Amino acid sequence: MYTQQVIDHFNNPRNVGAIPDADGIGTIGDPDCGDFIRIYIRVKNDRLEEVVFEACGCPASIATTSILTELAQGKTVDQAFAITEMDIVRALGGLPDPKIHCSNLGAAALRQAILYYRQGKKNEGREA
Ligand code: FES
Repeated sequence: MYTQQVIDHFNNPRNVGAIPDADGIGTIGDPDCGDFIRIYIRVKNDRLEEVVFEACGCPASIATTSILTELAQGKTVDQAFAITEMDIVRALGGLPDPKIHCSNLGAAALRQAILYYRQGKKNEGREA
């Protein structure tokens, strides 16, 4: 069973969209299920000013990435990079065991976007 938070974030995902001139983009897919998540970040004064995402994924991947955007927004780049899959699962009040892996996609896409930002490769993660 999904928690109310998961259902809410799936039905009303926060921060969906794209940033054409993003400071970093990360795209991560799961070859086993075919789902993928793309995260765009805008950074100002070392903080994530904007974090938005596009998804083609299962309900758990959408809900986990939605809440991840809320967790990451306003954090410093280092703090956002340190957000773990379990931070995301906890923020949603838990996930069924078989769906825990779905939280990996958003977290990995955010880390990739931050890595590209740090390397000055703004658009590198668009095609990943
Ligand atoms: Fe693919 Fe959830 S089943 S990310």
